Amino acid sequence: MPDDIKALLQEIADFSVTNATELENFRLEFISKNGKVQSMFKKMGSIPKEEKAAFGKSMNDLKNAAQSRFEILKAQFDTSSASTKTALDDITLSAPTLPIGSLHPLTQTLEEMKKIFYRLGFTISDGPEIEDDFHNFTALNFPPNHPARDEQDTFFVRKSDDPAVGDLVLRTHTSPVQIRLMEKQKPPIRAIMPGRVYRNEAVSAKSYFLFHQVEALYIDKNVSVADLKETLITFAKLMFGNDVKYRLRPGFFPFTEPSLEMDIWWEANGKGRWLEILGSGMVDPNVLIASGVDPEEYTGFAWGMGVERIAIVRHEIDDIRTFYENDIRFLEQFN
Ligand code: DAH
Repeated sequence: MPDDIKALLQEIADFSVTNATELENFRLEFISKNGKVQSMFKKMGSIPKEEKAAFGKSMNDLKNAAQSRFEILKAQFDTSSASTKTALDDITLSAPTLPIGSLHPLTQTLEEMKKIFYRLGFTISDGPEIEDDFHNFTALNFPPNHPARDEQDTFFVRKSDDPAVGDLVLRTHTSPVQIRLMEKQKPPIRAIMPGRVYRNEAVSAKSYFLFHQVEALYIDKNVSVADLKETLITFAKLMFGNDVKYRLRPGFFPFTEPSLEMDIWWEANGKGRWLEILGSGMVDPNVLIASGVDPEEYTGFAWGMGVERIAIVRHEIDDIRTFYENDIRFLEQFN
């Protein structure tokens, strides 16, 4: 081994440190790009060919020695340094900060909707996500074998041709909870029913096989379309602000007559368009009868709205899938 390398090895071995500055000095002197070890490498050019291999090996040893000495010094220094003090050694040390979680944007939107309906005097109900054919379709006035059943792209849990057994489905909407509520509670009824719904749709930026709805049901004596319109408009203003731009269009649902759909004017990235946020209508007398409510005595309105749609409008989100991917970079924006 050449003498100058030997000398440098000795110098490294003798180096000791007592604090962070000295440790840094060691690093600068020996390990950094402009340090002594790297400078030694430059001598390679002037070494005779036959000695190059041996020189190279010595240099490698030198480099490793410098690096391992650095680790040793660092470890020695670390155990004696203040940085390893625990809170018990020094109660003035500040506590480590932990990342704080936040509510999912859909939960935040749903909470806001619940608050609004609470102010309007609505209670909250829920029902099963696995539904029977009667509650999901028949009681809601979907005729048997009617194409409207297919339009809902149903996921079947159990298929049965025997009417005594019947189909079980993942509910395609929250409307069956209306039926369940009317079955167990006499009017007046004023309730919302939030929950997950499922549809066998191709996944894209605009649709997903799972989403959330909030159903609303109001049944009492003398409820009219005017009450429905007034409630829808009040909700839109409380949710999106007094200057919200909305429109009501005629629609069709088997379970309401007449039916209305509500669109909200949505502007994002300089472009505006109408976005449908809910379907609604006066509850069809057939639905009241199927649920044990007398249509001669009571009338009512209902609606079903998409929570994702409303969150999209509030937060200018352009891809529904981002709600379910749980990408922390997306979620962090809703703290
Ligand atoms: N269930 C409908 C859907 O999923 C939405 C809906 C429309 C609900 C009208 C209602 C209603 O209660 O009255 O598309």
